[in-house]
Amino acid sequence: WPFYAPLIFEINRLKKEKDAVILAHNYQTPQIYHGVADIVGDSLQLAIEATKVTQSVIVQCGVHFMAETSKLLNPSKTVLIPDSRAGCSLASSITVEDVMAMRAMYPGVPVVTYVNTSAAVKAVTDVCCTSSNALDIVNRVDGDTVIMIPDQYLAQNTAKKTGKKIITWAGACEVHETFTADDIAELRHAYPSAKIIAHPECPPEVIDAVDFAGSTAAMIDWVKTEKPARVVMVTECSMSDNVASETTGVDFLRGCNICPHMKRINLENVLWSLHTMTEEVTVPADIIPPARLAVERMIEMSR
Ligand code: 13P
Ligand code: SF4
Repeated sequence: WPFYAPLIFEINRLKKEKDAVILAHNYQTPQIYHGVADIVGDSLQLAIEATKVTQSVIVQCGVHFMAETSKLLNPSKTVLIPDSRAGCSLASSITVEDVMAMRAMYPGVPVVTYVNTSAAVKAVTDVCCTSSNALDIVNRVDGDTVIMIPDQYLAQNTAKKTGKKIITWAGACEVHETFTADDIAELRHAYPSAKIIAHPECPPEVIDAVDFAGSTAAMIDWVKTEKPARVVMVTECSMSDNVASETTGVDFLRGCNICPHMKRINLENVLWSLHTMTEEVTVPADIIPPARLAVERMIEMSR
């Protein structure tokens, strides 16, 4: 931390000078999450907070689709991402043409799209969802069949809880898809007294084997509320680091993977971003209204 202090100090000074706000996802490193972020949260919380910001510049410490969502909700503000290569294996798994082909194959079936997608894909879907409201959104859209894209595992995990038929796409999160039921069994064997919690982007066999599953914010809330003596957070590694410094009496054990995309963002490029006002995230004018509608419908349906 002493090494980071000058960077943190300068970023916080520049934020004021540039009238900027920093939105950071729960997977950002502690130095960003605790040191410079103004608002932290899961995808849904960040989208909701993005509708309320008063500053003229938003610096998104997260991946590209999150910055696009902030831009959709704030077309007249400047949205910056410190490294535009911060992608997501889910967002890159599906194109507009893929969605149109699915629509043609299942005419009239509503399309629920995970926010981990490009703005262009959001623009050709009916409503978005995140990991924290997926079940609610699926239950609330019309009809007893739903197309849910692009995360096959979030869709399968949601299908287990809803009475509706869910048509899936073959996308997966590269961070969560590698966890297996054997991994959970090994963790149980190694740490018999520990609680194990996971993100719903994990395969169903993993979700079936853990004590709790939820969005990144739901996992944090669970740890802070339940205060287990020992816990393994089966998700991105910064989650435990960030919660550990806010929680006493909980021993955080490792069972995590690193998201290389989230980790493209660091204090150095956040400072550079603010200093040079780059890299600006833009969304084509014709895509903004329909993509924004899909996000706003989700926010409305989550109230
Ligand atoms: P959350 O909406 O739960 O924060 O998930 C976002 C994400 O990218 C998880 O991999
Ligand atoms: Fe995408 Fe997975 Fe990284 Fe989340 S953790 S940003 S879903 S690759």
